[in-house]
Amino acid sequence: MKAARAPTSLTHFSLVFLSSFHLLFSFSAAEHYPGQAFIQCLIFQSNDSIANVVYSPNNASYEQIYEFSLRNPRLNNSNRLQPQVIVTPVSESQVQAVVRCAQQNHLRIRTRSGGHDFEGLSYSSTYDIPFVLLDMINLRNVSVNATARTATIGAGATLGEVYYWIYRASGTLAFPAGVWSTVGATGLICGGGYGVLRRKYGFAADNVLNVRIVDVYGNILDRESMGEDLFWALRGGGCSSFGVVLSWELNLVEVPETVAIFNISRTLEQNATQMILPFQTVARNLPVEVDLRVLMSTTISNTSVRPDNKTVRLSFTSTYLGPADELYKIIDKNLPEIGLLRSDIQDVSWIQAIMQGSFFPLFDEAPTPEDLLDRTFLADIPFKGKSDFVREPISEQGINGLWDKLLEVGPGETTLVFTPYGGVLDEYLESAIPFPNRNGTLYMVYMRVLWVGNTTQKLEWIRSLYGYLRPYVSRNPRRAYYNYNDLDLGMNNARGPINYITARRWGRSYFNNNFMRLVGVKTRVDPLNFFRHEQSIPPFSLAMVSDM
Ligand SMILES: Cc1cc2nc3c(=O)[nH]c(=O)nc-3n(C[C@H](O)[C@H](O)[C@H](O)COP(=O)(O)OP(=O)(O)OC[C@H]3O[C@@H](n4cnc5c(N)ncnc54)[C@H](O)[C@@H]3O)c2cc1C
Ligand SMILES: *[C@@H]1O[C@H](CO)[C@@H](O)[C@H](O)[C@H]1NC(C)=O
Ligand SMILES: *[C@@H]1O[C@H](CO)[C@@H](O)[C@H](O)[C@H]1NC(C)=O
Ligand SMILES: *[C@@H]1O[C@H](CO)[C@@H](O)[C@H](O)[C@H]1NC(C)=O
Ligand SMILES: *[C@@H]1O[C@H](CO)[C@@H](O)[C@H](O)[C@H]1NC(C)=O
Ligand SMILES: *[C@@H]1O[C@H](CO)[C@@H](O)[C@H](O)[C@H]1NC(C)=O
Ligand SMILES: *[C@@H]1O[C@H](CO)[C@@H](O)[C@H](O)[C@H]1NC(C)=O
Ligand SMILES: *[C@@H]1O[C@H](CO)[C@@H](O)[C@H](O)[C@H]1NC(C)=O
Ligand SMILES: *[C@@H]1O[C@H](CO)[C@@H](O)[C@H](O)[C@H]1NC(C)=O
Ligand SMILES: *[C@@H]1O[C@H](CO)[C@@H](O)[C@H](O)[C@H]1NC(C)=O
Ligand SMILES: *[C@@H]1O[C@H](CO)[C@@H](O)[C@H](O)[C@H]1NC(C)=O
Ligand SMILES: *[C@@H]1O[C@H](CO)[C@@H](O)[C@H](O)[C@H]1NC(C)=O
Repeated sequence: MKAARAPTSLTHFSLVFLSSFHLLFSFSAAEHYPGQAFIQCLIFQSNDSIANVVYSPNNASYEQIYEFSLRNPRLNNSNRLQPQVIVTPVSESQVQAVVRCAQQNHLRIRTRSGGHDFEGLSYSSTYDIPFVLLDMINLRNVSVNATARTATIGAGATLGEVYYWIYRASGTLAFPAGVWSTVGATGLICGGGYGVLRRKYGFAADNVLNVRIVDVYGNILDRESMGEDLFWALRGGGCSSFGVVLSWELNLVEVPETVAIFNISRTLEQNATQMILPFQTVARNLPVEVDLRVLMSTTISNTSVRPDNKTVRLSFTSTYLGPADELYKIIDKNLPEIGLLRSDIQDVSWIQAIMQGSFFPLFDEAPTPEDLLDRTFLADIPFKGKSDFVREPISEQGINGLWDKLLEVGPGETTLVFTPYGGVLDEYLESAIPFPNRNGTLYMVYMRVLWVGNTTQKLEWIRSLYGYLRPYVSRNPRRAYYNYNDLDLGMNNARGPINYITARRWGRSYFNNNFMRLVGVKTRVDPLNFFRHEQSIPPFSLAMVSDM
């Protein structure tokens, strides 16, 4: 830390600062750039090499860096506030400097790893309060110890990078996370994180051994020095309320060298309704080695009975930790309604299963493992998403009404996914991690609408779908997945005390009874609410003020 420098070096520092500042950011003398004092502080706290990773809006690369990890084009060119400054640290000490200097200069912080936040909160703000974007893209090293079955990953690593380096170390080790290669491992773990291995090995957050963070004071903490309550909060409670994650140590799990996969599609005319009804209860009770989900979308078909030729297509997608013959027997016995043929199933290596599941629009193509490292390999889709959890099967009438809703939009404009739980997920207490919805859940519902054409209409439509589902999904409170965050559930005030009633509304939707425990952790580690955004966890004292 350089905070105790002698006055002579201060003078030296100012000269260095001025020269690098003018090289990097050519502001006219009259122009006041509010990020200036912040950048000056960074150089003071760190050293002048930090200027190589600081971008002001006047810097030619600012926009490129900003947009590179802006993964939902719905939130590009919006009315949101963009960062005063972007910093892409190359060392942990630079992250510490950013946290300290942002506070000293009354700037808030948004931290971005993969940039897939559903509401763009990791890089933009609905508040009119200047902030620094701390973009972790340069801190993304992954190192795997196959003997110890662990991996240490920098916060900026994507799932694709994590999966790739595990594959390079071993064909039979895996990390139980999600399905889209450019999703950030950090954001995913911070909200819980599920994938094809969830029914056997739990969530990503269940498989975290250690984490390093920078806290509000700029100190580096690990599991031991932060205490178990903060370690708990970071595994599902949304890290951005508590600090900046630097790296994770992960537990790896065993998978067979060869696994079985299939993806078959059925339309309404092919009796899809008679398949989804049993699917709701059967899929969660299959052996834990089976992941069987269903994706639903509106499409055009020449077998449609409607004048507009529209129908709903259901794609049953499966990964099985075992051979194709076994998977065939399991599905044929338990869910004969879907009419699976043995020839629909392929035996593939684990890495192929990851690529085909992970790149899911490319199921029939042939990506290479190296494509997992390419952050531009998958096209970014503009969408608005929501989620629900189902504990009682939806009736036939309810399902038919759902089809009518889906048929209101154009082909390809919506996707719904039912992701069954069960397996080991029934064995977790609600309080095991902040994500509460495991024991007894039949399946999670993910719904999205493409943000194209008349977007006002699209927003109205997804809200009406959400309204339609109310009688069929979890209640008191109606649950939502924090990683599918949705500002329709409410927002904190920009300034001043948090409205606790509002915060509790979305807080209980995401975390149920774990919300109050998260508030307790927040109160201990960030009582003045520095790490704050539209849906961050409020500290207790401020929560109480506006509650009275
Ligand atoms: C196409 C797609 C597929 C998905 N698939 C799955 C899936 O299979 N399973 C699943 O569980 N989820 C899935 N998700 C949801 C995903 O887990 C969340 O969107 C997640 O937040 C993305 O993490 P990120 O690092 O990419 O996002 P970011 O936008 O970078 O961050 C998300 C949140 O985490 C915070 N954050 C990021 N980095 C840090 C850090 N270093 N320190 C502190 N806070 C930080 C941000 O401030 C923000 O609040 C998917 C999302 C998309 C768009
Ligand atoms: C400047 O800081 C970086 C880390 O932030 C460090 O790697 C580098 O050695 C430092 N340079 C000098 C000259 O101190
Ligand atoms: C800033 O812009 C200049 C050109 O205007 C470029 O050379 C430089 O690499 C950019 N980025 C940083 C971090 O300086
Ligand atoms: C954002 O919008 C700009 C201007 O329309 C466009 O050039 C850019 O490609 C967009 N970027 C992303 C990531 O959507
Ligand atoms: C980065 O990861 C590689 C293996 O993937 C490892 O050999 C190397 O030591 C790591 N570097 C750092 C700085 O951790
Ligand atoms: C990997 O883990 C094993 C077993 O825990 C340990 O003995 C070894 O030193 C580790 N290797 C590295 C490179 O850290
Ligand atoms: C749909 O189910 C009905 C009744 O069970 C059956 O007669 C019909 O053949 C099925 N249609 C298709 C396409 O499988
Ligand atoms: C419907 O389309 C499929 C191919 O998409 C084609 O094989 C089939 O013959 C068509 N059926 C009719 C009735 O046109
Ligand atoms: C529906 O399909 C039929 C036959 O494929 C075609 O003649 C007709 O124009 C289509 N209707 C619409 C509204 O696209
Ligand atoms: C399964 O097939 C459907 C229809 O072809 C496709 O849209 C979907 O992306 C595929 N799913 C996977 C996981 O490949
Ligand atoms: C899961 O729920 C069942 C039924 O309510 C209950 O009997 C069981 O104890 C619960 N398990 C855990 C780990 O909470
Ligand atoms: C878009 O949809 C909204 C709501 O359905 C409607 O009021 C508006 O007129 C539409 N705008 C255009 C340009 O069609």
